[in-house]
Amino acid sequence: MQKEVNVVYDNRPIGFIDSGFGGLTVVKQALKQLPNETVIFIGDSARCPYGPRPSEEVTQFTFELVNYLQQYDIKMLVVACNTATAAALPLLKEYLDIPVLGVILPGARAAIKASQNDNIGVIATQGTISSQFYDHALKAKKPSLHIWNKACPSLVDMVEGKTNVDMTKIATELSTFKDSNIDTLILGCTHFPMLKREIESIMGEDVTLIDSGVETINDVSAFLDYFNLSASPTTQPKQHRFFTTGDATEFKKVAASWLGRRDLTVESVTLNEGVNPMKKTILIATKNAGKAKEFQAIFGKQGYTVKTLLDYPEIEDVEETGVTFEENARLKAETIAKLLNVMVISDDSGLCVDFLDGAPGIYSARYAGEPKNDARNIAKLLAILGEVPEEKRTAKFHCTVVMAFPDRESIVATGELFGRIAPIPKGDGGFGYDPVFFLAEYNKTAAELGTEMKNKISHRKLAIDALMRQIESEGVLW
Ligand code: DGL
Repeated sequence: MQKEVNVVYDNRPIGFIDSGFGGLTVVKQALKQLPNETVIFIGDSARCPYGPRPSEEVTQFTFELVNYLQQYDIKMLVVACNTATAAALPLLKEYLDIPVLGVILPGARAAIKASQNDNIGVIATQGTISSQFYDHALKAKKPSLHIWNKACPSLVDMVEGKTNVDMTKIATELSTFKDSNIDTLILGCTHFPMLKREIESIMGEDVTLIDSGVETINDVSAFLDYFNLSASPTTQPKQHRFFTTGDATEFKKVAASWLGRRDLTVESVTLNEGVNPMKKTILIATKNAGKAKEFQAIFGKQGYTVKTLLDYPEIEDVEETGVTFEENARLKAETIAKLLNVMVISDDSGLCVDFLDGAPGIYSARYAGEPKNDARNIAKLLAILGEVPEEKRTAKFHCTVVMAFPDRESIVATGELFGRIAPIPKGDGGFGYDPVFFLAEYNKTAAELGTEMKNKISHRKLAIDALMRQIESEGVLW
């Protein structure tokens, strides 16, 4: 009998970033090796070259590019730039919750495989060379290697069209390797494969050139398999998108000729500059992954990564010692925001019954004692209300949401849903006091409403809406 194979596909695009045209050498490989995948590429030609810039600045620019791509819900990020990989890869991995691949490690691995005599040359930008990322990557795998480094910024200018391709100049740059006895040369800048023929003719056929783009896509392909992220097989043309911060016509000329595709469109974009990578995470103080998804839909569009307490198992529960909803929500959000240096959203909610002067209020979840139990809480409430007539059983669900920041005053918002306590529980949807919370306008308890409807009118939804209005009007995130 044939075993049924359950294949999961993910048709979201893969994001590629570079300082300019160079990343197209990596994209070319992606289009060749992974024709089912959709590519979203952005090149920062307006600020190219990255090579001579300080690492902090390259990191900042890299996050701005990533921030732009995040609106397309990318499933994986390929940092198709050695300089950006050297500056920002560890930080990107920390802040993004999708797989992030740089171009340096795959190139280093391929060079070790190719070299017969353990003499390896690296040509790259100043930024990549001074980071020593290649040296570390190569030596970490094989300490006996001899490595010759050479920064060749003039080659980037040739590829970007800032200067003409000049064989004499290329030969002068590569003369460093004359006495090195290298048998392998890593093209440690994604721009350089565009000058492969020229470099090859100078280095001679005894030197193997390593194109890290090719190697990186081998890794991407393996990652797609490993994480079940491959797109479904199709022969339909994919809707690739190309963005540049520079001139779209100029970019299109290079991209169309390099990729051999006349039909591609290139859009010129302006980046949201000054995005602080340290502020790009929002932690929802919950262990409920479903709750986080709702927030991801809101904040993901702005380039934020939403995490939950499940991502930080080392954080201990913050005790709810406050005497108001706001105090408890603040306590949790502000404690964690300070601890992790990220933005945190926390909420506290409960049922307030008028006849009981607002009880059980902040004690709603533990009304009938620990361990918390919905059925016992409801039983206690109904017993206390006993024969209290309908008109005196008015109540409200209250929610206070607090958004705390590492470096500014918190934002507080509230939402309330009004109803009355029913004489007997009804409905099996919802949770907490929902089965006894009667909503006259729907003639149903909150447990009979259905999740979709409840989520539309709930006190939590109202509080979050109010929070979002405040965030927007205060211009906190955007
Ligand atoms: N493509 C970039 C790299 O791989 C470098 C070009 C630049 O200096 O911006 O390093």
